[in-house]
Amino acid sequence: MAVKKIACIGAGYVGGPTMAVIAKKCHDCMITVVDIDKKRIDAWNSDTLPVYEPGLDDIVKAVRGKNLFFSTEVEKAVDENDIIFIAVNTPTKDYGVGKNMAADLQHWELIARQIRKVARSNKIIVEKSTLPVKTAEAMETILNTGSKFHFEVLSNPEFLAEGTAIKDLLNPDRVLIGSRETPSGQKASNELIDIYSTWVPKDRIITTNTFSSELSKLVSNTFLAQRLSSINAISALCEATGADVHEVARAVGADSRIGDKFLNPSVGFGGSCFRKDILNMVYICRMYHLYEIATYFENVIHMNHYQQQRFVDNVIRAMFNTVAGRKICIFGCAFKANTNDVRDSPALSVARTLISEKANLIISDPKALDNMKAELGNTKSVQFIHDPYDAAKDCHAILIITEWDLYRNLDYQKLFDSMVKPAYLFDGRNMVNRQDCYHIGFNVYSIGKNALIH
Ligand code: NAD
Ligand code: UGA
Repeated sequence: MAVKKIACIGAGYVGGPTMAVIAKKCHDCMITVVDIDKKRIDAWNSDTLPVYEPGLDDIVKAVRGKNLFFSTEVEKAVDENDIIFIAVNTPTKDYGVGKNMAADLQHWELIARQIRKVARSNKIIVEKSTLPVKTAEAMETILNTGSKFHFEVLSNPEFLAEGTAIKDLLNPDRVLIGSRETPSGQKASNELIDIYSTWVPKDRIITTNTFSSELSKLVSNTFLAQRLSSINAISALCEATGADVHEVARAVGADSRIGDKFLNPSVGFGGSCFRKDILNMVYICRMYHLYEIATYFENVIHMNHYQQQRFVDNVIRAMFNTVAGRKICIFGCAFKANTNDVRDSPALSVARTLISEKANLIISDPKALDNMKAELGNTKSVQFIHDPYDAAKDCHAILIITEWDLYRNLDYQKLFDSMVKPAYLFDGRNMVNRQDCYHIGFNVYSIGKNALIH
């Protein structure tokens, strides 16, 4: 088999792990991952990778320097390779038309122009980033108009979740490839199928037209987030009525038409994508004058905001309506367990509200403290302490924000003994044995269950 020469622009949470798995599974692929962020590339070439993902270190160690390379030479990589994946970030626009809603495509367009400028042969361009429907079409226009070479743009959105990225990449529910329905589109699509089918069963590789593929990614994230907002809405109703949200979720999820996954209520969903992608969906609906549909999906975000706010309001109300000058310990600042990513983490919104209420915060997390420090900046009223026992000492309350397994197995008696009384435990992930913690002496507040107060 001929060697497939691949470049990936963007060495982030998607580009790095995805290319590492392709390199591991596809020995006839030679892959160079490039990024403008030198620090990130240096980290990919070191023993401390910039992304924490279970299983990632071993795979990178096995393939780096063999058929996987990390570099800052973006133009060289574009020139020398035939298949160019683009996995750059696609943040929400913070200026102009579509501010705070639409995807900011300025970097995307620049990349298209850069590829066009340096390419000296035909290329297949693969959209890995999540993009508004019709981006591939716009990109093809920029690339092909008046060009000597032919650029075929495919949509191949990524569905991995952080914390389980390697597992998801090795055993995906599906791989989605969108292409033009033309002979050159089909040919390019087959090239990508060849790569994935070295380890993904053919019946899990779905091919569609480009528009369907781009839209399916946004719809997928919208449905997932919608489900979380639904169970979080029910959690508020459970607290008001005396029902228990886990009992309700179990009873409802046992219906095979509904299913039991993604029904864990929490302090609200976070992460770099759900909010951004739903806002993008909402913006697209408005662009097509589908205002009712836009409003329908926008409520998923409103509900999430409400859930995060409701959690902090409960903390403040329970602690006699003032947290000013009180020490509050936050367990977990990653947006979910098993990642060092804090982008749009519920811990950020909780921390910011408590800081504005003049609380003194001690934030603890096994992997995400550096990123949290960078995000919160230098704030006098916040300390970062790795060890959870040291972090909770002399605090009035513990708030569990991230579902790290570690927090399930702590010695809560020891924690309680070191805290100011009355001691509060706000379990934003329903992780602890609440009866045990109540008997130890904590006032225990859970999500979607009645509070246990002394
Ligand atoms: P990220 O911010 O971790 O990584 C993006 C990288 O692209 C950064 O390192 C940045 O320096 C680099 N970059 C930006 N512009 C560049 C340019 N012009 N040239 C070279 N490098 C450039 O982002 P991410 O989390 O990996 O997400 C990437 C895309 O994948 C987004 O569209 C996101 O919606 C989508 N996605 C993310 C996940 C996830 O779990 N994070 C899952 C599925 C899809
Ligand atoms: C999500 C999707 O699950 C991926 O399929 C998608 O590829 C990705 O977004 C993306 O496009 O970026 P991710 O955000 O990494 O992945 O992680 P999730 O497991 O979806 O969790 C998102 C948030 O929801 C986290 O804050 C998590 O703690 C929360 N969550 C998840 C709950 O509160 N309850 C649940 O039952 C599940």
